[in-house]
Amino acid sequence: MKIAIDGPAGAGKSTVAQQVAKRLGILYVDTGAMYRAVTLTALVRGCSIEDEHSLREMLDAIDLMLEIKNGVQHVYVDDKDVSEAIRSREVTRHVSTVAAYPLVRERLVDMQRRIASHKDVVMDGRDIGTSVLPDAEVKIFLTASIEERARRRMEEFEKKGVHADYAELLRDIEERDRKDSKRAIAPLKQAEDAIRLDTTGRSIDEVVDRIVTLYREKIGERA
Ligand code: CDP
Ligand code: CDP
Repeated sequence: MKIAIDGPAGAGKSTVAQQVAKRLGILYVDTGAMYRAVTLTALVRGCSIEDEHSLREMLDAIDLMLEIKNGVQHVYVDDKDVSEAIRSREVTRHVSTVAAYPLVRERLVDMQRRIASHKDVVMDGRDIGTSVLPDAEVKIFLTASIEERARRRMEEFEKKGVHADYAELLRDIEERDRKDSKRAIAPLKQAEDAIRLDTTGRSIDEVVDRIVTLYREKIGERA
């Protein structure tokens, strides 16, 4: 059984997917973290993200690994845990450019499908229901108003004691959503058979309950 959760930045995909996985005792895969890890590596190694050749060389050499520790996904590049570093503003600003390259998507989608081929998973991203796992039994498209999504990001920064500018966060999110929706390959879009859940003003528990119920209904239908 597979659950695909897609949607724009800050809709609550990672938070919700992680809790759904915990409740159902299945694996959670955060595909955004993989695109972020590739972007971080490109930036750290001084490889130009505008140059496909340079990206290919980097991709050929990168050793990317995912591991779940206490229900939380950790990402490793060459055995170094980069789970925190991939959330930086710098990575966030460049990730949509890197994620638009077909060669980057091919490599990562391959890895994502391999992980899902032998396990029950809940996978979140932008193209899971439309492209990575088109046969997923449950497909969710999570949304929330852009103001709420920016406010959520703002709260996350504040909790970490980091100052963030609301207007800037709003602009960054808008820009990333625009790039993710307009790219030629596997753009962000709702799959025809996905259920759209608007999380504006809804609690995390409410959203998790709804997805868990949908999953159990599917299992019931199969039995
Ligand atoms: O958590 P947040 O919404 O900030 O983003 P993320 O899920 O970590 O994804 C970061 C970026 O990776 C997205 O803005 C997309 O450009 C890219 N991405 C993608 O292209 N396809 C996916 N399946 C997941 C992420
Ligand atoms: O993965 P994505 O970018 O879609 O969102 P996220 O990284 O899970 O961040 C969503 C933020 O909104 C988290 O700080 C959650 O605590 C909060 N939130 C939520 O996810 N769902 C709600 N219904 C309400 C708040």
